[in-house]
Amino acid sequence: KHLPLFQYKGFNLITGIHNAEELDKLYDTEIYDSDIFIVTYPKSGTIWMQQIMSLIETKGVLNATFNMNTADRIPWVEADKTIQKFASLSPPRIHVCHLPWNLTPKELRQKKGKIIYVSRNPKDVLVSFYHFHKFSNIFETPKDFNTFLEKFLNGNVFCSSWFNHIKGWYTHKDDFNILFLSYEEMIQDLRSSVKKMCTFLDRKLSDEEIDNVVEHSQFHTMKNNSFANYRQVCPEIFDYDKGSFMRKGIVGDWKKHLTVEQNEKFDEVFQEKMQDVPIKFIWR
Ligand code: PPS
Repeated sequence: KHLPLFQYKGFNLITGIHNAEELDKLYDTEIYDSDIFIVTYPKSGTIWMQQIMSLIETKGVLNATFNMNTADRIPWVEADKTIQKFASLSPPRIHVCHLPWNLTPKELRQKKGKIIYVSRNPKDVLVSFYHFHKFSNIFETPKDFNTFLEKFLNGNVFCSSWFNHIKGWYTHKDDFNILFLSYEEMIQDLRSSVKKMCTFLDRKLSDEEIDNVVEHSQFHTMKNNSFANYRQVCPEIFDYDKGSFMRKGIVGDWKKHLTVEQNEKFDEVFQEKMQDVPIKFIWR
């Protein structure tokens, strides 16, 4: 059954999964310095970070992460059910989050807690999001790729505009205790990204422990790990015969999807919306 989107303070969320009253509570909730939020626009590396973060906490020991899905180990903070538990969880509270900067708990802006923002080049986000709509029963299956491209560029999708999301976080970065990482740099050199995370989060892992974190969060390892590949998560929402969270995991798949015309249109919008944002993307 499709779940319609609704706007919470101008941001597109999902009826039945998100709730305005709970989100108001999250905004006002007390934040501890030990809190960690992994912030992403959808399809930018969320479940990858759930696996990496879990493994950092177990110092690379895979067995310690077993018997529980990454979605339960590192829950999605703005989901209705998570917010209800959030205040009573014992530290460290570690969550993933798709919210824009202005809707996250306000105390984060006093540099309490830590945020890791993971970005991905938006053409690959678009392609991954398009395929996600095909196996996710809560969203309407797009008529065709072009229809979805228009919706994405106009922000008429879950989590609204990709451009506003990254611009908001980037422009307000000095208010937060935040580390920026990109999907593409993780693809190029995962070990360095994991080390950056450990330094930022003040987690001391040996070289061997870091090797283990990296090994167990490689695409193919995760794809075959039923506690990390999301296969068991919400089977009523996802039709895994039609797609998968662990789809391709590469940089530049957009080249196989966008026509020359669609690509020109995308570049035009990108240049207009991102002209003041000095972030460089790896498109490959
Ligand atoms: S969601 O729905 O927002 O939680 O989706 P998200 O996890 O952010 O994005 C899914 C994409 O991330 C890719 N992925 C990975 N890539 C490389 N290495 C690893 N280990 C990995 N894990 C997940 C996944 O394949 C999706 O991208 P696409 O391009 O669709 O393959």
